[in-house]
Amino acid sequence: MADESINKGRRRFLTASTAVIGGAGLIITAIPFVETWLPSARAESAGAPITVDIGKIESGQRVRYGWRSQPIDIVNRTPKQLEWLAKQDPRLRDPDSKEPQQPKYCQNATRSIKPEWLVFIDICTHLGCVPDYYGDIKPEPFDPDWKGGYYCPCHHSRYDMAARVYKGVPAPLNMVVPPYHFVDDTHIQIGVDPKGAV
Ligand code: FES
Repeated sequence: MADESINKGRRRFLTASTAVIGGAGLIITAIPFVETWLPSARAESAGAPITVDIGKIESGQRVRYGWRSQPIDIVNRTPKQLEWLAKQDPRLRDPDSKEPQQPKYCQNATRSIKPEWLVFIDICTHLGCVPDYYGDIKPEPFDPDWKGGYYCPCHHSRYDMAARVYKGVPAPLNMVVPPYHFVDDTHIQIGVDPKGAV
């Protein structure tokens, strides 16, 4: 059952993996996979780390990469999106990230190493669909009090701008933050913990 769910998510990912969505105005632009410093396909499928260039990701923008056949989303969160993170706690199932859905070094208020950079595996923790990015802070048909985040179209689960799941939706857990670290100010390596991390 679990494998079936994961495969379902992967299938959906393959059809959705070329979308980049800007925060403002939900501009959807079809672009190919970003392939900066990607290892060979064989190495990638074996789970090799990937290093990605985040230097051109604008504030509010989300970009998607593939790692271990999973969609890795990287979002450059705006100050407004960050401001609302702290106010969302009453609406969230696990606001303090107590469940082990992230490395220890991301068990914090922003679920990240640097506050503005959100890095996570965009697979819904209900049945493995790929939630869509709705970065604008404005009423949405699925939530009149929306403060930005992710919405899963399969069964209407919602997540905030730290990929934390809302209460009262089918998904039981926050989405997963993979191991990663900053190689320098504009490059992130996914699949490897920071030096000295426990
Ligand atoms: S798979 Fe996302 S809500 Fe069911």
